[in-house]
Amino acid sequence: MIERIRVIGIGMGDPLHVTGEAVHALSTVDVFLVADKGDVTADLVAARQAVCDALIPDEHAYRVVEVTDPRRGPDAERDDTAYDRGVRDWHAARVDAYAAVIDGLADAETTVGFLVWGDPAFYDSTIRIVDALVERYAASGLTVDHDVIAGISAPQLLAARHRIPLNRIGAPIHVTTGRRLVDEYDPSLGDVVVMLDGHLVCGQLADAFPDVELYWGAYLGTPDEVLVHGPLAHVIDEVRHVRAQARERHGWVMDTYLLRPPAVPPETPPPSGFPDTEALTDGIVTVRPLAAGDWEVVRDEHNNEESLRWDFVGQACTDDEARRQASQARREWRRGRAARFVMVDAVTGEGAGVINVMRMGPPGIGLVGYGVLPAFRGRGFTTRALRLVSRWAFEEAGLERLELGHKVQNVASGKAAARAGFEAEGRLRQRLPNPDGTRSDEIYYSLTRETFSPEADG
Ligand SMILES: C[S@@+](CC[C@H](N)C(=O)[O-])C[C@H]1O[C@@H](n2cnc3c(N)ncnc32)[C@H](O)[C@@H]1O
Repeated sequence: MIERIRVIGIGMGDPLHVTGEAVHALSTVDVFLVADKGDVTADLVAARQAVCDALIPDEHAYRVVEVTDPRRGPDAERDDTAYDRGVRDWHAARVDAYAAVIDGLADAETTVGFLVWGDPAFYDSTIRIVDALVERYAASGLTVDHDVIAGISAPQLLAARHRIPLNRIGAPIHVTTGRRLVDEYDPSLGDVVVMLDGHLVCGQLADAFPDVELYWGAYLGTPDEVLVHGPLAHVIDEVRHVRAQARERHGWVMDTYLLRPPAVPPETPPPSGFPDTEALTDGIVTVRPLAAGDWEVVRDEHNNEESLRWDFVGQACTDDEARRQASQARREWRRGRAARFVMVDAVTGEGAGVINVMRMGPPGIGLVGYGVLPAFRGRGFTTRALRLVSRWAFEEAGLERLELGHKVQNVASGKAAARAGFEAEGRLRQRLPNPDGTRSDEIYYSLTRETFSPEADG
């Protein structure tokens, strides 16, 4: 009867990759459940068996039960939603199949083990499946203990074999799948590790990013291990060739690779973020960079009748959404996408609204957006905040022209902008959506470095 489930990472199939902790764990398992995925990965099932043979002492009795893996349709043709649904259905079918075996365990068989290729944390569903099994037994009143033992993963072995660290000093590593790579690749991601790529899709990036270094490895940790390294455009044909030959020979191929963009020469300036700033104040209104703790101001500025009336969709902002926006603000600032400020009452410190400068269009242009909480309306807060932020945008952030727009009916917004020195430039027909599905004309304003005067009062 089941008491414990152990998820054991066994590295890449070589018994020498199995950690001491995993060796101990192996010897505690009565029944190993192994997915039988058909002939294609028979080599992998054999490798698992070899690990057990090599590392479990003869006196420890265990059995290996192959559980036929439910069939799973091809992923490549699915969109993200179909992919997620397909994976979920497949997991549910696997949970059922494993539970059927566990329910039939002999009384003395109390510990079940799942042997996981590489490490359970990398693109492997075993932990999720075990969670579902544990929950299922808990629901029927049976407590099943479970644990996870780490293993050497394909990216770790790739790095070791190429004798490189996966990251550059202090920089992050992006780990993704072949299915996402082409859509999301950008050298600004830094070092990108790709797994689960059945089609070597990095080949599609070779024209655009010829100098990106490819560190490729297949059958890592097995006697057939093969490595290739070089600039993507130079080595991609060699990798295609080696990979096709190997696939022919084995009937399957498992490969992992790292894409490393060339180091940026020190004289090339990094992508420019907005400059940091202290709080800016005129004694009545203070604006300061929006921080995670300001999320309630983000929410309350949005969730009131007046704001929702001018909104595009008219939907309330949830606490989670407000938290997300507030916590991302510093990152957007550093990247130079948007400078988001919170407006506060300079005297009481109370949050009064938000004001943002979004970098958009040609260089030097900032699109301004703002909103004030109901309690602070009619007190000139927007105009004051616009003046403070405009000065910062021209004098500190190097912008040349600020733009803003409002729905033609939103007269108050236009008055606040005009008082801050913005000039109406035109009416853009049917530009802005309304919550009821109609569209409104937009009155568009600008303020340029030349026309800006901090004292303007319209
Ligand atoms: C389902 S994921 C499992 C990953 C595994 N849990 C790990 O820690 O590496 C399978 C992917 O891992 C990579 N992989 C697994 N074994 C490999 C090997 N021996 N050589 C190269 N890549 C391998 C491949 O990218 C493959 O598509």
